[in-house]
Amino acid sequence: MMELENFNVVCFMCNWAFCQEEMQIPSDLNIVRVMCIGRIDPAIILETLEKGMDGVMLVGCKPPDCHFIDGNLQAERAVKMLRKLLKLTGLETERIKLLWYSPTDEKTFAYYAKKFLKEIKEIGFSPLKRGAPKSKLLVNVLAAKNAASDFRLRVLLGREKELTEGVNVYGEKFSVEEFDALLDEIVTEEFVRHKIHVLTKTEPLSVKALADVLEMKTANVLRHIVNMRRKNMIALDHVEGTTPLYKALEVK
Ligand code: FES
Repeated sequence: MMELENFNVVCFMCNWAFCQEEMQIPSDLNIVRVMCIGRIDPAIILETLEKGMDGVMLVGCKPPDCHFIDGNLQAERAVKMLRKLLKLTGLETERIKLLWYSPTDEKTFAYYAKKFLKEIKEIGFSPLKRGAPKSKLLVNVLAAKNAASDFRLRVLLGREKELTEGVNVYGEKFSVEEFDALLDEIVTEEFVRHKIHVLTKTEPLSVKALADVLEMKTANVLRHIVNMRRKNMIALDHVEGTTPLYKALEVK
């Protein structure tokens, strides 16, 4: 017998964009009201997908109307980073949607909600829906979630406006394209490092074994290991013959 299953979409919605009368929305969209959409931690969005939700919608006030100055623009920057991370995991980037909305809009919120649900249904159920504990995709999403919490990425994201609109200490200004390329590079580096961390959490692994899983050159994996050792993310566990095996340390 075919199993009937519902789609599950979580919608984080700014309180100021919320309108009670417009809540005629399908039951497979669950609304979580927040004070400002900029208050949502990017890692929470990935955790929501990790738990098997089919999509995540973020609804904020239309710029420049944010009661916390630029929370909506912070959310926009976070979503840009999250899409880059999602692309590395293999999960469809369209599972995350950002919408600027005002209760005075011509179209109701229900209209946008149904539109997003339709898009998600076209993509299909999340492959993480039934939880595949050891799957490559789950490891990737866990790595992305941890990377989204990484200090270096958060600092860079927080400084986008300053770096692209002002000048740095050397009197240089980043173009939007240069900033985007830098973000791409750091997102990829942090994703790989956090993937190594997730993989070595349960068992110590050699550089060669990691290179095989990551489909990377051993020299590049070694470069990440050196960096991770410096940051106390990983340590030498033991040596087998002449091969060192590394194990993840608890990240504080
Ligand atoms: Fe609505 Fe900030 S108060 S997005």
